[in-house]
Amino acid sequence: MSTRELFTFRNSYFSVAVGLAAGLFVLTAVAGFVVLPRLQPELKYADLWDAFCSAAGLPRRSVSSGEIPKSAHRSSEAVLTSMTLAHPSQESIGRGATLAQRCAICHGPTGISRADSPNLAGQYAAVIYKELLDFRSGARTNAVMSPFAANLSDREITDVAAYYSYLPRLPAFHPVEQHPKPRVVIYGAPMRGIAPCGSCHGSLDNKTGSPWLEGQSEAYLKAQLQAFASGQRTNDISQQMRNVARGLTPQEIDEAAAYYASQPPEIIKATD
Ligand code: HEC
Ligand code: HEC
Repeated sequence: MSTRELFTFRNSYFSVAVGLAAGLFVLTAVAGFVVLPRLQPELKYADLWDAFCSAAGLPRRSVSSGEIPKSAHRSSEAVLTSMTLAHPSQESIGRGATLAQRCAICHGPTGISRADSPNLAGQYAAVIYKELLDFRSGARTNAVMSPFAANLSDREITDVAAYYSYLPRLPAFHPVEQHPKPRVVIYGAPMRGIAPCGSCHGSLDNKTGSPWLEGQSEAYLKAQLQAFASGQRTNDISQQMRNVARGLTPQEIDEAAAYYASQPPEIIKATD
């Protein structure tokens, strides 16, 4: 058989092979351009062509016609740099101290809470500032806390952040024999794309905007991790914490919360 006879539709093997290849091509195209785009629950397509354009990486019609897809929740509008509130003035700290009297009933007269409200003493000023902006805008909500942020002015937020960050924080307390460091805090979980907690939260490095967690109540820490994991708390910029928390197992959440909550027995007694 010459090559010419081989590549002709008269040759049934050739026809079947071409038919199979073409069929496979159509099948993958339908899967890639139509089925997969439509299976993504967070994306809404106007029609088949819209899904097709999106998969091909072309601008989507529903967007170009001025209809901007709305997110289901409010994102944080706070902008933080490493210089945010880096050098507060004495006057600002003083005004913050007066203002903080309103907060003492829950956050404690020295910024160390006796209830399960978060401690604010020694918290990074940028964190307090950002969280208050987020409670005020509604990017973070809590039935107990939100009303106290609603009427704060920008200057009051700056002042109260300056004051609390100036108070002495609870130091880390991790006697090795009682509390072995959980793996996720030191090493993260590389296979699940989780960086070590300590690389943002302090023990290894501090990334601007990552709160000081040492001495925070176990119940509060757990509740926040669960809220990030379930998507109930959504004010973390670029989903930094949601991405971490979603990948954690319930056991890792318990271990990390217990680790950061660890304090010497006399301190726990004193704040009871
Ligand atoms: C009635 C109790 C109560 C009062 C009063 C209160 N807070 Fe809070 N605050 C809370 C609770 C509870 C939370 C934790 C909310 C959550 O679980 O999301 C919180 C959270 C915060 C946070 C976030 C801390 C973090 O680590 O993320 C900041 C900052 C804060 N409060 C500042 C203030 C300031 C400033 C005032 C006074 C103007 C104030 N709070 C008054 C109960 C209170
Ligand atoms: C990539 C950096 C990064 C890593 C890694 C990270 N976090 Fe966070 N975390 C953040 C940032 C940023 C916030 C503040 C989110 C916001 O803007 O409200 C945060 C917030 C939190 C909060 C809420 C604290 C509060 O007072 O509001 C908890 C609890 C927490 N992280 C625990 C953890 C634990 C446990 C791990 C490790 C398993 C971890 N984080 C890993 C960046 C990180």
